[in-house]
Amino acid sequence: MNAPDPILRVAGLSASIDGQQVVEQVDFEVPATGVTAVLGRNGVGKTSTLKAVLGLISRSGVVEFDGARIDGEPTHRIVQRGIGYVPEDREVFASLTVAENLRLAERGTTPNRGMVDELFPDLIARSAQRAGSLSGGQQQMLSLARVLMNDNRLLMVDEPTKGLAPRIVTEVAAALERAAAVTPVLLVEQNLPVVRRLAHTVVVIEGGRVIHAGPAAELLDDDERTQQLLGVHSTDHGAPRGGTDHGAPKGDTDRSAPTGADESREETP
Ligand SMILES: Nc1ncnc2c1ncn2[C@@H]1O[C@H](COP(=O)(O)OP(=O)(O)OP(=O)(O)O)[C@@H](O)[C@H]1O
Ligand SMILES: [Mg+2]
Repeated sequence: MNAPDPILRVAGLSASIDGQQVVEQVDFEVPATGVTAVLGRNGVGKTSTLKAVLGLISRSGVVEFDGARIDGEPTHRIVQRGIGYVPEDREVFASLTVAENLRLAERGTTPNRGMVDELFPDLIARSAQRAGSLSGGQQQMLSLARVLMNDNRLLMVDEPTKGLAPRIVTEVAAALERAAAVTPVLLVEQNLPVVRRLAHTVVVIEGGRVIHAGPAAELLDDDERTQQLLGVHSTDHGAPRGGTDHGAPKGDTDRSAPTGADESREETP
C-alpha cells in the first residue's frame, strides 16, 4: 500500500530575517497523521522554519500544503487553508478572560468547543479569570485551546512545554496527543521524553539546515547519536545549556527565567 500524501512538503526552503539567512535549503515532509517533531539546539532556526512556512518572514523555496503550492501566498491565505499556529510565547490576550480569549478565537460556524471543554476542564473552570493571571502552564493550555477551537488541517506548535513544571508538561503532552489523533501536528519540542511519547518522525535542524530526519524512536534509542545531533541525552527534559552555534541571544537565561517563575506559580494555586 502506498503511503498517503504528506499534508505539508517543504523543499529548498530558505528564509532570512533582517538580511541574515536563518533557514537554508530545508527539506522535510509532514505526514497527514500523527506528530512530526522538529528538534535542534537553541537558535538553530526551528521557529524561523515554522514562520517561513507561514510566510511570516521572507522566504524562498517550495512549500506545498495538501498538494497545493502556498509559498507565494500571504500569511492570511495560508492560515485560511487550515493551518493552526501556536507560537513559542503563548499568545493569549492577558487582559481578557479565559472565556473571552476562547470566544475571540472562534472562526468557523461549528467550533470544537466540546473537545476543548473535555481536554481542559481546569482551564474552563477558570473561564472568568483574566488570562494574564494564569500560570504559564494554564496560559499554554489556553493558547492550545484557542487553536483547537477551529477545524484545522495541520497544527504547528512551537515549544509548548518550555519552562513548565513536570506535572504540567504531562498535561500539555496529553492534550497534544489527543489533538494529534484528529489533526496532524508539526511540533517543535526540546523535551525528548515528550518527543518520544508523541512523535513518530523527527527532523533535526542545525545552523538552519536539516541534518537528520527519520523515525523518532530510532534516533532516541541511540543515545550517542542523540547527543551528537542535539547535545543532550535522549532522556533529557529540556534544552541543552550553554548557547548555540550562532551565539543567539535567546539562550540559557531566556529559558531558565520563565521556568522558575512558572514552577513557583504552579505550586501556589
Ligand atoms: N527577530 C529576529 N531578529 C534577528 N535575528 C533573529 C530574530 N529571530 C531569530 N533570529 C535569529 O535567527 C536564528 C534562528 O532563530 P530561531 O528563533 O528560528 O531559532 P530556534 O531554533 O527556534 O531557537 P530557540 O531554541 O531558542 O527557540 C538565530 O540566530 C536567531 O538569533
Ligand atoms: Mg524557537
